[in-house]
Amino acid sequence: MQIYLSRPDITEKEIEAVCEVLRSPNLSLGPKLQEFESAFTKYIGTKRAVAVNSGTSGLFLCMLALGIKPGDEVITTPFTFIASATSIMMAGARPVFVDIDPASLNIDPARIESAITKNTKAILPVEVFGNPFGFDKICQIAQKHNLSVIEDSCEALGSALNGKKVGTFGTMSVFGFYPNKQITTGEGGMILTDDDYLADICISLRNQGRSKDDNWLTHERLGYNFRLSDINCALGIAQLSRINQVKSKRRQVAGWYQEMLADDNRILVPAEQDGCDMSWFVFVVRLAEQFSLEQRNLILQQMRERHIQVSDYFQPVHLQPVMNRRFGYEKGDFPITENVCKSTIALPFYNNLTKDEVAIVCKTFREVLDNI
Ligand SMILES: Cc1ncc(COP(=O)(O)O)c(C=O)c1O
Repeated sequence: MQIYLSRPDITEKEIEAVCEVLRSPNLSLGPKLQEFESAFTKYIGTKRAVAVNSGTSGLFLCMLALGIKPGDEVITTPFTFIASATSIMMAGARPVFVDIDPASLNIDPARIESAITKNTKAILPVEVFGNPFGFDKICQIAQKHNLSVIEDSCEALGSALNGKKVGTFGTMSVFGFYPNKQITTGEGGMILTDDDYLADICISLRNQGRSKDDNWLTHERLGYNFRLSDINCALGIAQLSRINQVKSKRRQVAGWYQEMLADDNRILVPAEQDGCDMSWFVFVVRLAEQFSLEQRNLILQQMRERHIQVSDYFQPVHLQPVMNRRFGYEKGDFPITENVCKSTIALPFYNNLTKDEVAIVCKTFREVLDNI
């Protein structure tokens, strides 16, 4: 038996919602697009929502809408999925990394100000693994220095900090709907903002630079095809309608892991921090200091040999070949991130993982640790 790292959770009702679109004449730019966007503004509480075909395209469009261009700098975290940083590069700007807070694993607010230069235009913080800790402080710093915030909420749909929903912290924010996310549209993303000008630019950019009033073959600006089809939107509407159920299922799985691993001092188990209402994205434990990178990698290998899928979220973004070659970032630049990256193990985590499966993962994990 294989226990997977991640599995989508798609109901019959959701399959029917997709089929209904397939039976209609509107496969793209139809009524489901607006319905999905409206459902999002209602759930998150922003004025506008713009659906796109991935989280990455959403982040890139935020850069363009905010006028971020070559020569500009955007401050971000080296402990994230690569797209947080490459979206900055796609706009021709430079990602300036700031090391993380080892407790939250998010960009450390206390280190941001020293990275601000005359070229800094924005901060792109990420709610890593769904954790919103520190976002109030990040926004205060951005406001003080008159910087935009592009909130990368791709991993955090449903989280809140001190009652304020993730997706409302940034000047613009972006969610992602890849199948391992809290909700999925197969592929997809959503840009949120209170600013009509920014939303309207994104609507034009996602649709070949057309403007609202132009006819189909008039193109006002350089645009892209980042549209999200009505097929995807129908799935998204149905998935979003049960976000509270999704959150509680994931919370329960996280709770089982926390319980079953609590007494093992070889492992650091994640927990919700003060003020955080966390919508769990993944369940990533860290090995205690005594374990080396080689031992961590051996543990990953042995778990996989025992049919349990695991992963090493993340590798430091600044050490990715593309970053090293382009900007010369090197080992030692962000030691907290590098140290955390050496110790992480993402365990199987999804809505319908059972308590018995969690017990098998934990038992196997302990056995593997015993033999290292
Ligand atoms: C933090 C973060 N940013 C951006 C993305 C990119 O989203 P997508 O895969 O939908 O392009 C992801 C998701 O994979 C992510 O986890």
